[in-house]
Amino acid sequence: MTEPSHLTVVDHPLVQHKLTLMRDKETSTNSFRRLLREISQLLAYEITRNMEMTTRRIETPIQAMDSPVIDGKKLALISILRAGNGLLDGVLELIPAARVGFVGLYRDEKTLQPVKYYYKVPSDLGNRLVIALDPMLATGNSSAAAIEMLKASGATNIRFMCLLAAPEGIARMKEAHPDVPIVTAAVDERLNDHGYIVPGLGDAGDRMFGTK
Ligand code: URA
Repeated sequence: MTEPSHLTVVDHPLVQHKLTLMRDKETSTNSFRRLLREISQLLAYEITRNMEMTTRRIETPIQAMDSPVIDGKKLALISILRAGNGLLDGVLELIPAARVGFVGLYRDEKTLQPVKYYYKVPSDLGNRLVIALDPMLATGNSSAAAIEMLKASGATNIRFMCLLAAPEGIARMKEAHPDVPIVTAAVDERLNDHGYIVPGLGDAGDRMFGTK
């Protein structure tokens, strides 16, 4: 795993193998969705390092003990709609007690700025580890705007999980939110003129929901 301060690329063979299958344009919607769920769990493993723990009193067959458990109520998963939902499903399977929020943004055709159309997040974000989920970090404009909204709601401990990142998006996030670590499966070459990641995997939302 490479680990500059703001960026972690999870170069584990299982992640890279599954990512190659996802990039392949012949991969079906069904397989794409399953692979995304599997990779999200491997990325979750990395992004939840150092998360808050508590203990639970249990009895082993031998004796009672206070044993460590994840404090899931202290975690908020925020899906950046709509593609973030593809990561959310898998992470929630691993951390079922996590609170969940949604941020919906669209790009204004005139100003090209992200505009909020939906925003519902757990209360008390300031007391939680907040993990924002969006598979594709492209220009970084909508991700940076979403993080700004989470900070305005009180979040102070935020991490960002994506599947693919473009150098442009990483730079934008680093400039806007240097305090938000990014965990990704790969950093690709660049963005094309339409804002797609190259070589990328196409439109993540279309591929996971079969809407193309
Ligand atoms: N969003 C996508 O779904 N794909 C890209 O390549 C860039 C943004």
